[in-house]
Amino acid sequence: MDTKIMGGLLWLFVSLNLGAALAIPYFNTTADFMKCSYGERGSLTATCVNANTTYFKSTPYRFDQLDETLVCSACNLKTLESGSFDISGNQIKNLQLSLSKIELLKQKAFVGLIFLRNLNMSHNFISSVYPGTFTGVKKIESIDLSYNNISVLSDDGFLELINLKDLNLAYNNIKTISSKAFNGLGNLVTLNLERNNITEISYTLSKLNHLQVLNLRNNQIEKLQGSEFTNLFSLLLLDLSLNKLNNPIIELYPNNTLKSLFMENNSIHNLSLEFLKGLHSLEILDLSHNAITDIQKATLLGLYHLRFLNISFNAITTFQTGVFTGLPYLELLNMSHNAISYGEITGVFSLHSLYALDLSHNKIPRLDYEALISRLPRLSYLRLEGNPLPCDLEEEMNTYFEADNFKFYLHDPYSNTKSCVLTPTKHSEKIIKETVPELDENRSAGMSGGEVAAVILLCIAYICLCLMFYVQYRTFQENRNQSPHRATSSVNLISAEDGRPGDEFLRE
Ligand SMILES: *[C@@H]1O[C@H](CO)[C@@H](O)[C@H](O)[C@H]1NC(C)=O
Ligand SMILES: *[C@@H]1O[C@H](CO)[C@@H](O)[C@H](O)[C@H]1NC(C)=O
Ligand SMILES: *[C@@H]1O[C@H](CO)[C@@H](O)[C@H](O)[C@H]1NC(C)=O
Ligand SMILES: *[C@@H]1O[C@H](CO)[C@@H](O)[C@H](O)[C@H]1NC(C)=O
Ligand SMILES: *[C@@H]1O[C@H](CO)[C@@H](O)[C@H](O)[C@H]1NC(C)=O
Ligand SMILES: *[C@@H]1O[C@H](CO)[C@@H](O)[C@H](O)[C@H]1NC(C)=O
Ligand SMILES: *[C@@H]1O[C@H](CO)[C@@H](O)[C@H](O)[C@H]1NC(C)=O
Ligand SMILES: *[C@@H]1O[C@H](CO)[C@@H](O)[C@H](O)[C@H]1NC(C)=O
Ligand SMILES: *[C@@H]1O[C@H](CO)[C@@H](O)[C@H](O)[C@H]1NC(C)=O
Ligand SMILES: *[C@@H]1O[C@H](CO)[C@@H](O)[C@H](O)[C@H]1NC(C)=O
Ligand SMILES: *[C@@H]1O[C@H](CO)[C@@H](O)[C@H](O)[C@H]1NC(C)=O
Repeated sequence: MDTKIMGGLLWLFVSLNLGAALAIPYFNTTADFMKCSYGERGSLTATCVNANTTYFKSTPYRFDQLDETLVCSACNLKTLESGSFDISGNQIKNLQLSLSKIELLKQKAFVGLIFLRNLNMSHNFISSVYPGTFTGVKKIESIDLSYNNISVLSDDGFLELINLKDLNLAYNNIKTISSKAFNGLGNLVTLNLERNNITEISYTLSKLNHLQVLNLRNNQIEKLQGSEFTNLFSLLLLDLSLNKLNNPIIELYPNNTLKSLFMENNSIHNLSLEFLKGLHSLEILDLSHNAITDIQKATLLGLYHLRFLNISFNAITTFQTGVFTGLPYLELLNMSHNAISYGEITGVFSLHSLYALDLSHNKIPRLDYEALISRLPRLSYLRLEGNPLPCDLEEEMNTYFEADNFKFYLHDPYSNTKSCVLTPTKHSEKIIKETVPELDENRSAGMSGGEVAAVILLCIAYICLCLMFYVQYRTFQENRNQSPHRATSSVNLISAEDGRPGDEFLRE
């Protein structure tokens, strides 16, 4: 082998690689690489690469009506000076400035963008929004400031944005919201404050009369007086999950239309009676991952339109059907991962709409599925896995529900292992027991003639009792002048459970 030739080749190889390695960073660091260009034909998008804050006005590129969207890519904007985008003839509607290393927004930074509708400044290092920042850009409808470094929302930062509908401040470091921080945002529809460090909201939101979606997920809120949200007349969704709430009160205006309330992963252990007062439009309520031990019927009474209720991962020990009978539209009840060891059929009314019940991962040792089904006529999906139920239950239930279109799970459907308890059960000591006579004749196991007569007699006595209560209730109402509920009192009947009037809505 000729070592000279080998050495020469090696030298050539190394120097070529070195040259290539040096060339790329050399070109990239020159200002020549700043460039604005039009995207594909018809894309209506111009892209500026590597631009700094003065480049938009000095670029040879001419902005016209085809540049609806301006995207900044690998830009290094640091300080957005006043009038950085005051480009003659521009009709930019969407400005995409995420990942552009912005640290500071000067007053009137966006002046000149008279067509601007959507502004995206996510993933930058902005630490504050000072008054005057948005002077001259009245038409803006959406601002994304998520993933920045904002720690204080000071007064009047968004004052000029009278048309703003969507403000995203998620993933910042906001601790303090000044009382006038949201001044001017009378048309705001969506406000996202997810994953900040907010401990208190007091009355900072009280002027947002058109707000429909408020996301306060993953903050440090400990207390709610209730009245914080009172003036949010239009609110449809409120997300307070992953906070530190323990005994919250949510109070909205009487004509509120709140449909979804998320409060999972808080420290709620006590549901006070005022907790959810007046949320009569609520359809979805998530209280999972809290420390609730007990649900009082009265707590849920006002939630007339509730459809989905999740109280999984709490510490509830009993399941009483009567607690939920004031919820005629309840479709799904999730009580998995609690400590339920005792179930009871209470109240006289069925849960007409309930089709899915999750009682998995509790401590239920026995189950009278017949009695349960009798009170839940629509039920077609029942989860029971993770309970110490007897092994023979499966066969029993398979036989009983053979003809029905009824799905039940006694074992984890996603695992092959089965677990059950090998103890003989007696029908007489079923854990779901009835405390009132059965009314649904079809489901109940055959009654003798005498039993039927007894039941009918009981029913008659019961109806008389109801009537007596009702008469008394009307008299009571008559005596109380100017009862505000008079107009609706004809819908209310008397609950058999505790004799208190107006507890139950009879909509058979
Ligand atoms: C230089 O620019 C090219 C093309 O724009 C890019 O692929 C490359 O990653 C850049 N190199 C550096 C070191 O920024
Ligand atoms: C932007 O880059 C140009 C060209 O390199 C330079 O003259 C100008 O000072 C820069 N502007 C800022 C604000 O850094
Ligand atoms: C803003 O830009 C980020 C990153 O490109 C993107 O994930 C986000 O969806 C954009 N926001 C809006 C409102 O379009
Ligand atoms: C974020 O803001 C804090 C002050 O609130 C500052 O100390 C920190 O350097 C900022 N971080 C970045 C990445 O700008
Ligand atoms: C929130 O504030 C606490 C101290 O008050 C701090 O330790 C924590 O890192 C902050 N969290 C975030 C997400 O900024
Ligand atoms: C609710 O009541 C408030 C105060 O009276 C009123 O301003 C608002 O328009 C009402 N909202 C609806 C949806 O009726
Ligand atoms: C909610 O809390 C549980 C523990 O209680 C935790 O396992 C779960 O990850 C939390 N959820 C989120 C989204 O952090
Ligand atoms: C729990 O709530 C009840 C009434 O709803 C109240 O009397 C009691 O003081 C509360 N307990 C705690 C520890 O907050
Ligand atoms: C609560 O249950 C509902 C329905 O069962 C489910 O869609 C939702 O994801 C659950 N919530 C959490 C936090 O897991
Ligand atoms: C009940 O909620 C848990 C989470 O909390 C979820 O994993 C489960 O799928 C839910 N059950 C149903 C029937 O939706
Ligand atoms: C009971 O239900 C079955 C079908 O599930 C039906 O054939 C039968 O007629 C019903 N009996 C009464 C008394 O309604």
